[in-house]
Amino acid sequence: MKCSSSHKRSLRKQLLAVVAGVTLPLLSVSALALTIGFSQIGSESGWRTSETESIKAEAQRRGIDLKFSDAQQKQENQIKALRSFIAQGVDGILLAPVVETGWDQVLKEAKRAKIPVVLIDRGVDSDPGLYLTKVASDFKEEGALAASWLAARTNGKCDIAELQGTVGSSAAIDRKSGFDSVISNFPNMKIIRSQSGDFTRAGGKEVMESFLKAENGGKNLCAVFAHNDDMALGAILAIKEAGLKPSKDIIIVSIDAVPDIFKAMADGETNATIELNPHLGGPAFDAIDASNKGESVDKWIKANGPLYLPDTAAEEYQKRK
Ligand code: AHR
Repeated sequence: MKCSSSHKRSLRKQLLAVVAGVTLPLLSVSALALTIGFSQIGSESGWRTSETESIKAEAQRRGIDLKFSDAQQKQENQIKALRSFIAQGVDGILLAPVVETGWDQVLKEAKRAKIPVVLIDRGVDSDPGLYLTKVASDFKEEGALAASWLAARTNGKCDIAELQGTVGSSAAIDRKSGFDSVISNFPNMKIIRSQSGDFTRAGGKEVMESFLKAENGGKNLCAVFAHNDDMALGAILAIKEAGLKPSKDIIIVSIDAVPDIFKAMADGETNATIELNPHLGGPAFDAIDASNKGESVDKWIKANGPLYLPDTAAEEYQKRK
């Protein structure tokens, strides 16, 4: 029988486990469990922090030895982390890529070392043969859902300010393109201001302040489409400081469904959010397990969520806070 080298690594671990069970009954389970490297983007948003906590908790629950590396928003740090994981001979790698381009070389190195790489949350433009799978939501669908809701809410007539996510990230690129593809069907819906707030609350506030100044104190704006909740929360502060009522004078739709946005919605300060599931560790670890057993794995494990409105906001906040 032909065996892949990740399969061999897994068999070796199983054999060690049997030997340890006989000779070293006191050896901890985690000493024998899979070792997985996780290169995370950073902690730019509430959603990102929940995702990190959820993946760490899932690793602990499964007895996985998780080597965590925080890239602080820098691709070069992620590439360094991946090379270090490869040198350590980990059993698999989770990569949340900060931007979409520039991964070919390091993914080839992982492939050469026969280490499966799972893309977590965001995508890359590399050949899909270079990674095992992507566990992520469809960002285009999220953008399209936000635009469809806004079109229905405004009868297809709205001048929109867009707060984009990190430049070059698949989340920002695809949310924008999904949103644009829907509003292109409505001649009276236009994005009149668009800039990156880098997925942060401070960035959202700063960019929104400049939009408000440029647009007659906000009077020319019908709505804000924020690529994430944190930027929407920053925009809410800016709108209030400008003397306007967020959600009433300016409609707000965003993405993530973090607890703070439900609080703002319950307080009447925002209108809609689309859920981005942060619990991506389970399907990612399952995919590595399956690949180590020689089983096939789908190239994209999708995790899309629904749109939430104020009617359930207070209840959702209680569940999630
Ligand atoms: O890639 C997903 C985005 O990244 C989330 O919407 C945002 O909050 C984040 O930091």
